[in-house]
Amino acid sequence: MEFIIDRVTKQFKNKIAVDRVSLKMSSGIYGLLGANGAGKTTLLRMMAGVIGMDTGEISLDGDAVSSENYRANLGYLPQDFGYYPNFTAQEFLMYLAALKGMQKAQAKVKAAQLLELVHLNDVAKKKIKTFSGGMKQRLGIAQALLNNPKLLILDEPTAGLDPKERVVFRNMISRLKKDRIIFLSTHIVSDVEYIADEILVMKDGKIIHSGSLEEIIKVIKGKVWECKVERQEAEKLMGTYALINIREEKGGVFLRLAGEGKPCEDAKEVDAVLEDLYLYYFNEEGRKMI
Ligand SMILES: Nc1ncnc2c1ncn2[C@@H]1O[C@H](COP(=O)(O)OP(=O)(O)OP(=O)(O)O)[C@@H](O)[C@H]1O
Ligand SMILES: [Mg+2]
Repeated sequence: MEFIIDRVTKQFKNKIAVDRVSLKMSSGIYGLLGANGAGKTTLLRMMAGVIGMDTGEISLDGDAVSSENYRANLGYLPQDFGYYPNFTAQEFLMYLAALKGMQKAQAKVKAAQLLELVHLNDVAKKKIKTFSGGMKQRLGIAQALLNNPKLLILDEPTAGLDPKERVVFRNMISRLKKDRIIFLSTHIVSDVEYIADEILVMKDGKIIHSGSLEEIIKVIKGKVWECKVERQEAEKLMGTYALINIREEKGGVFLRLAGEGKPCEDAKEVDAVLEDLYLYYFNEEGRKMI
């Protein structure tokens, strides 16, 4: 399997939402990590063929994004997926299967299989309006799998899930990855930390880092520090270092910081995690809030 994104660009008026993104992917889970407005949804919508690109090419095993073959192999969960509140889970899948041109008998079997896969078989006949956020997201994933796609694109699939539902979701995605490309976007570090084979970090329309968790974390290795200082000193440090964590303690403030060089005399260098990297690049807003 080969999924190719080649110098893809998209501009809205004077805003370049996606800026010459190139990626080459084979089967596995790809986690696109980026802050609000980074360009994730715009990139995914182009991958799903929902919007056109200004320049560049997207293809799956040689089929262009605009081709029928590509669409036949694509499953997509949009960020703002519209559910029909008065449909039951089963009716909803049957309805979408019909739109995809599936025969009724075949659709019925497939819907039942998928509802079981996403652990919604017990509530197959319950109306969607009675579902929790996590249940709706699982139904969204089920509909994206109706045509057994080679390419599964999920835009913020964990939005609104509680920690337990996140774990269920991760396990489900891991089970689906065989012989498939799963491309998911999120701004929650832990969603991709454990399950993604490759992590892509997006900022201002560009992919600024990509690689396995280990490769990505290398970028920030040796730059993460913990120290305890006085309040005044802490404020000074926040001007030059990225703040990862702050905690008021007796006799000062405890800080976890990222940046070049020791922030203070007794600072301790600590092992970096993905969240450190994320905050290192995306903490501008966070810094303003303190
Ligand atoms: N249809 C549109 N018209 C104009 N500007 C748009 C449109 N869609 C997106 N943008 C702009 O493009 C940029 C990228 O938006 P996009 O929705 O792709 O980001 P995102 O990474 O998905 O953000 P979020 O995490 O909030 O979902 C933003 O500045 C956004 O305002
Ligand atoms: Mg988005």
